[in-house]
Amino acid sequence: MKNIIDNTVVFVKEKLEGAEAGHDWFHIERVWKLSKKIAETESCNEEVVELSALLHDIADPKFHNGDETLALKISREFLESQDASEEIIDQVLFVIRNISFKNRGEVPEHQPLELKIVQDADRLDAIGAIGVARTFNFGGFKNNLMYHPDIKPKLDMSKEEYKKSDGTTVNHFYEKLLLLKDLMNTEKGKKIAGERHVFMQHFLDQFYKEWNCEI
Ligand code: ADP
Ligand code: NI
Repeated sequence: MKNIIDNTVVFVKEKLEGAEAGHDWFHIERVWKLSKKIAETESCNEEVVELSALLHDIADPKFHNGDETLALKISREFLESQDASEEIIDQVLFVIRNISFKNRGEVPEHQPLELKIVQDADRLDAIGAIGVARTFNFGGFKNNLMYHPDIKPKLDMSKEEYKKSDGTTVNHFYEKLLLLKDLMNTEKGKKIAGERHVFMQHFLDQFYKEWNCEI
């Protein structure tokens, strides 16, 4: 198992060279490590967890013209080149296909444990201090506004309010990041998410305070 994991590390590092800093090798490394930590507390197939964590962002659709199948194709070809069994390949591809936040409505109710673990790890890397950093980096990469002062985004925005705030980096907290703690699958994930969630709330409070010169 060590051999295929080592080879996957080399493959992913090379593939992600030059990637946006929030979706680069270091994101993968954090998700890989977190997945292993969570996996220690569950009885799962560790090889599937590690391979899925390493390959989950190998070709993110938002950096590849919306192509949803490219990551699956690249992963299958790579795993076949490593003589992985068809069973392992199927399980890893299932995780990659279903891990994304935006596809959350379509995931079957009884998810495999390996998907739950890697999904928690990926979501944990989207919140807390790293989550804040990644989100502002992505906003900068897209040249989005950090925030729009006409509107203070909140979780229960009206349609008009949402439209106005859409596209700002601060809005991404309300459309995704602040929702993640309640979507955690594992007990370990829930615990880590609680702490990171509170940090983001403090960050936003301070952000508004400074924006409004409340000193
Ligand atoms: P998923 O793969 O779970 O659907 P994404 O790849 O869309 O998640 O998002 C991963 C991270 O990229 C987010 O947590 C955030 O840091 C950043 N990101 C994605 N979309 C935006 C956005 N519109 N504004 C700011 N950051 C974003
Ligand atoms: Ni990811």
